[in-house]
Amino acid sequence: MDSLQELNREIQSCKRCDLFFSRKRAVCGTGESNPQIMIIGEAPGAREDETGIPFVGRSGRLLRDVMGIAGLDMDSIYISNAVRCRPKIGKSPRISEIRKCSNFLRTEINILHPQILIPMGNSPLKSLRSVMGIDFGPISEIEGSIFVIGNIFVAPQFHPAAILRNPKRYERFKDNFLKLRNFVYDVRKMDMAEIEKNYRIRHINGA
Ligand code: URA
Repeated sequence: MDSLQELNREIQSCKRCDLFFSRKRAVCGTGESNPQIMIIGEAPGAREDETGIPFVGRSGRLLRDVMGIAGLDMDSIYISNAVRCRPKIGKSPRISEIRKCSNFLRTEINILHPQILIPMGNSPLKSLRSVMGIDFGPISEIEGSIFVIGNIFVAPQFHPAAILRNPKRYERFKDNFLKLRNFVYDVRKMDMAEIEKNYRIRHINGA
């Protein structure tokens, strides 16, 4: 599959797991067609299920606020999710649902070639485990680190819903995005010396 339109048609008609029974709409990724950054959330909530658009509820508002404070332009990124249909109310997606949906993320990454992936929370890390074959570990241990895998950078962050549940984490979440803004510029220059000096970099597979 080599076009986003084709991929999105497949997502919208997907029946690979039981979530299709209860969904109103499957939610495709959205954003810039040549993005430097791809943000990967968990799964649609109620508002996203209604509208078919990712991150339009409370979590999305917090994410947009923090990106705005950090001076990161939402228009230059692509936003996607580990799972494309709303999970059971109040639940995180199951590992079987994440695995069945991970092909969509793999295809999106292959089509869009983002340089920086920002998985938010444990579900997108589990999806990336299927896509890249890498166990990044739990978000509580790795948020704020930046992994280098070949020519891709993976910068995991807490999910905004975790910040809404525990506002004490807000300052750290915001600071991470402020650092990410500088990181984005350093990556554009591909200044590896600056990158190694300024960020908590972890190389994977000798990359
Ligand atoms: N939370 C997510 O992880 N994704 C969305 O699209 C909305 C809320």
